Amino acid sequence: MEHQTFLGKSNLRVPRMGIGAMVWGDPKGLARLHPAKTAYGGAHGIDEERRAVDVSIEAGVNLFDTAAMYSMGAAESRLGELTRGKDVIIATKYPSGFSFKVEDFPKELAMTLTRLRRDSIDLYQHHYPNVKSIPDLMNRVADAVEAGKIKAVGVSNYSVEQMREAHASLAKRGIPLASNQVEYSLLNRKPEVNGIMDACRELGIMLIAYTPLAGGRLTGKYSAQDRPSGFFRRILPQYNRKALEEMQPVINLLREIGERYSKTPSQVALRWLIENPIVLPIPGAKNGKQAADNAEALKFSLTAEEVEMLSQATMRWRK
Ligand SMILES: NC(=O)c1ccc[n+]([C@@H]2O[C@H](COP(=O)([O-])OP(=O)(O)OC[C@H]3O[C@@H](n4cnc5c(N)ncnc54)[C@H](OP(=O)(O)O)[C@@H]3O)[C@@H](O)[C@H]2O)c1
Repeated sequence: MEHQTFLGKSNLRVPRMGIGAMVWGDPKGLARLHPAKTAYGGAHGIDEERRAVDVSIEAGVNLFDTAAMYSMGAAESRLGELTRGKDVIIATKYPSGFSFKVEDFPKELAMTLTRLRRDSIDLYQHHYPNVKSIPDLMNRVADAVEAGKIKAVGVSNYSVEQMREAHASLAKRGIPLASNQVEYSLLNRKPEVNGIMDACRELGIMLIAYTPLAGGRLTGKYSAQDRPSGFFRRILPQYNRKALEEMQPVINLLREIGERYSKTPSQVALRWLIENPIVLPIPGAKNGKQAADNAEALKFSLTAEEVEMLSQATMRWRK
């Protein structure tokens, strides 16, 4: 399989996998309590984040995903600092807060460019469908594309209808909607049944899969006896003891398949996503080792039979 592809119908060439930098940066004051930081706990400091950048680029994973909202700008600032002058593709998201109006778009874009220390953004994604008029927003976005400030346009957490509306609005300006970033993993297969995957295929839109390791559950390092840290992972039902017990057969299958290729459960779980040409996972990494481990998913392939075995074993997570 090709290690690079175009992002949807845009001209942006991207690797088949990116890296999520949601928990990076050193927020100050209230921003330290932001969910991006507290959900799973933060990354392991600037030196490890730098290592994660370097090993990822070295392995060909040069697409980094962040958002203005993450730790109130601290994650974007850190990514800007660590990637300055490097050959990277930056995917970020707006807005920076929940009370967003379409008129705020140019200001949001300017603030993000400053934090990232760049003149343009490779992929600019609307984080949540939280505006009154998607066509009005997409017109503003199209203006910024024409001004050379955005190379490819994306959305995130959009439903099929919202995605179609954004796609049609941009098409009137001759601009493709390149991607929709939604949660997708072996333990969350909703995009296969809620129409998102089908619509992405039909319209030529890349499905960027966030939380592709199911927040660490697919790494195989957590179990009912050894639960993960972080506020969300303590309170959300998918991380409770029963849920962690129920997923153990999946981990066992990931291990069994991984042994054939000397790969870990995480690498097999990421590869299952990559085997679908319209899916691009962006696993989060807290340090250089996690980033290097995840990048290994680009270096092998699963057979169609193995892909199907994993699909069959995770049917209950399709609902
Ligand atoms: N658009 C949206 O609304 C949205 C929402 C959420 C996330 N995202 C994006 O998606 C990215 C990834 O999602 P995510 O961070 O939620 O979940 P994820 O990628 O499923 O899980 C990431 C976590 O798993 C653990 N991990 C990762 N690689 C590992 C490895 N090789 N070995 C052992 N442990 C490993 C780390 O936490 P521990 O070491 O603590 O276990 C890491 O923080 C984010 O960075 C963000 O860019 C977008």
